[in-house]
Amino acid sequence: MSGKPSAVIDTRVIYCGDNLEQLRKLPEACVDLIYIDPPFNSNRNYEVFWGETKEKRSFEDRHESTRAYIDYMRPRCEQLARVLKKTGSFYYHCDWHASHYVKVMLDGIFGENNFINEIVWKRSTSHNDAKQGSKHFGRLHDVLFLYCGGSNEYTWNTQYVPLDESYIASHYTNTDADGRRFRWDNLTGPGGAAKGNPLYEVLGVKKHWRYTNKKMEQLVADGIVAIPPKGSVPALKRYLDASKGLPVGSVWDDIFPVNSQAKEALGYPTQKPLPLLERVLLTSSNENDIVLDAFCGCGTAIVAAQKLKRQWIGIDISPTACRVMAKRLKDKKVCALPENEDLWAIGRGFIVRDLPWTEKKLRELPPFEFENWAVIALGGRKNKAQVGDKGIDGRIFPVSALDNVRVAEASELALEERFYAMQVKQKDKAGRPDIDAFETAMRRAKCEKGFFVSFDYSSDALREIDRFFREEHRIIVPLTVGEILDEEIAKKLA
Ligand SMILES: C[S@@+](CC[C@H](N)C(=O)[O-])C[C@H]1O[C@@H](n2cnc3c(N)ncnc32)[C@H](O)[C@@H]1O
Repeated sequence: MSGKPSAVIDTRVIYCGDNLEQLRKLPEACVDLIYIDPPFNSNRNYEVFWGETKEKRSFEDRHESTRAYIDYMRPRCEQLARVLKKTGSFYYHCDWHASHYVKVMLDGIFGENNFINEIVWKRSTSHNDAKQGSKHFGRLHDVLFLYCGGSNEYTWNTQYVPLDESYIASHYTNTDADGRRFRWDNLTGPGGAAKGNPLYEVLGVKKHWRYTNKKMEQLVADGIVAIPPKGSVPALKRYLDASKGLPVGSVWDDIFPVNSQAKEALGYPTQKPLPLLERVLLTSSNENDIVLDAFCGCGTAIVAAQKLKRQWIGIDISPTACRVMAKRLKDKKVCALPENEDLWAIGRGFIVRDLPWTEKKLRELPPFEFENWAVIALGGRKNKAQVGDKGIDGRIFPVSALDNVRVAEASELALEERFYAMQVKQKDKAGRPDIDAFETAMRRAKCEKGFFVSFDYSSDALREIDRFFREEHRIIVPLTVGEILDEEIAKKLA
């Protein structure tokens, strides 16, 4: 895949920000396929495990009522309808919490006549939801609403699933002289003459047929049309080995949710399985088409797009999600796509735009987003659960240690000896108690060097850092957000 497919929009771009603002910047009718999986209107608390961190962050969906949720989603869906091409398709992924309200809203925006399907994705087994004593049927499925962009010419590539054994056993009951299994299929034209099916004689039987006389003569000559032993009307032999399978219906029960132990699992609680997105993309787009996911989380839709040679645009409000996605795209085992402005400009690689880069924006981030930003900005890794160093937010591994780890696949304990600790405080001024706590954590972790990130430091805090070095020969590097943004950081890390 190379070059830009459209002169008017950039693709292979992840935008960080509220999609309402980002979508307003896109021109009308510019994308071929939209998939969205917005946070649901649920009262559940999500436990978010970011990557390797032991930290559990809970966040509640902000929408206190269905009405508030729909009010939040409506302007965003209006923008999505605006940017969708007439020949495009739109998928909205949701569940029972709000699906009925979402359908009514979408009918109003995309038009009832453009509604194509309600897809039921069976994502769990009953014991996940209906526990003993609960007074409801297990809630086992998500819903995907599919709309087209307004034209009957919307992209559609039928997908097939393999025939199941019981279907094969009950339908493919015949075997040809050469051993090929087949079933008999009716050849008479549905609707007879009224539907324009031609009337003629085949093997002595006069009827309205599905095919032209010429085609039928050929099929008879090839031995594919014959009179079944137990019948009197010519029929067609459908061979099992030529079958594409069954066209996919609106109930999808053959795609399993992402198992937390699976290779593709990123620890993102709402991560959708890649095969689900691959089915959506294969059905409703072609190579080089533009796919948009405006709530892209850890980027399953854009990974599917990249793998299937589509162009793509991703939007997410969470800087952490944007970095998780970037890492996933770069991963050699996933897409091996470089994050590089120069390569992107010549049609290779991808870029992330609009990550928060001002102190003001960083102050406004939720604390865990801020912490993730700082750890990632310093090239560190979030702390590991099993090591359990209280007071350490991240670790920076000196290059030499990393090399050794790669070679020796060293244990956690071996790694522990070799990292620089990180502590992040989203505070105007980190004070002496903050430094004291970090010193304790560094002693416990037997760490010789650490990096502290904050907006500024009190003079007490800086004095304590000096004392720590003089008396205990351990180094704390106090970094300010301003320095990180100014890229002064390279000097301090050297
Ligand atoms: C359910 S997750 C998407 C998961 C995704 N389908 C996947 O497989 O990884 C929803 C995402 O929407 C993002 N989000 C919520 N509100 C948003 C907004 N207004 N603009 C952009 N992204 C938003 C959240 O940060 C979250 O990552």
